[in-house]
Amino acid sequence: MPAIYAKAPGKIILFGEHAVVYGQPAIAIPVNKVSATARVLPKISGGKNQVRIKASDVQLDTALSDLDKNHPIAVAIQQVLNAIELDQLPSLTLMISSTIPIAAGMGSSAAITIAIIRALTDFLGKPLTTEAISALAFEVEKIHHGTPSGIDNQVIAHQKPMLYSPGKPIEQLIIREPTHWVIADSGEESPTKSTVADVRKLHAQDPESYDQVFEKIGQITLKARPALIAGDTGTLGQLMLENQYFLEQLAVSSPKLEKLISAAVSAGAIGAKLSGGGRGGNMIALAPSEKTQPIEAALLAAGATRVITTTLIKKGRD
Ligand code: PMV
Repeated sequence: MPAIYAKAPGKIILFGEHAVVYGQPAIAIPVNKVSATARVLPKISGGKNQVRIKASDVQLDTALSDLDKNHPIAVAIQQVLNAIELDQLPSLTLMISSTIPIAAGMGSSAAITIAIIRALTDFLGKPLTTEAISALAFEVEKIHHGTPSGIDNQVIAHQKPMLYSPGKPIEQLIIREPTHWVIADSGEESPTKSTVADVRKLHAQDPESYDQVFEKIGQITLKARPALIAGDTGTLGQLMLENQYFLEQLAVSSPKLEKLISAAVSAGAIGAKLSGGGRGGNMIALAPSEKTQPIEAALLAAGATRVITTTLIKKGRD
């Protein structure tokens, strides 16, 4: 039996982070330059039901039976077993690797989970629908992020730009004109779980005011939807700066992120904002096509630890 292999991309949120946790819409796109990979190698020899997990990026090399049952990988495997009504896996080695930066707002946890679910269900001859894979990954995301909105698992499972509102059907965005995005890592690790918890505290202190902030962010996201589809960069840039203003009201920005945003704008970005949980992690800049390199250079000079440029290309409905 040959090895089975599945890949899942990274993602980046363009508009609506944090507000999406409170039911507002958000827009996210897949980032194919980075990805997580899961490979299943059947074990022909050896005892029965021996499952080995190897993730060399995080120095993990263990028998599944020795892994804490609440470990996200163990939970992902359990989700698969429940979904396909199987008691245990046959003997195999599951190899996991990823080029997606960790705790930086690029969906590394969801991508790893989705790659594992796809590889295992394909290997077992029980492929699941994209929606089912996304739903299983959402359960695992709860371990990583506490109260995730569900945007990461949706955009990474579907691998499409989308407008996502919790509890509503996803809306795939059919892009008519390309746009160029430079993503820069502030180098400050910032777990999404803590910023989401801090925003929750703020909201609990003054629900009315913060609901208004979330609503304003939701309106920005809805205005960004047609602009992104049409490649209307002027409107998008302005909306990014407005969204950043409201993220600052939620206290999830940071001096380093703001330094990177200014550096990008000075180098010709049409708009820029933090992306994801904030207080560290990534920012994103919208770049005119001829300016991606100067913007990348300016971000690195301003202290970004990594830059990734991605182009959202024109695509038809699949
Ligand atoms: O840090 P990221 O990119 O995984 O995104 C977090 C986005 C939040 O809206 C802050 C949380 C969520 O679950 O949607």
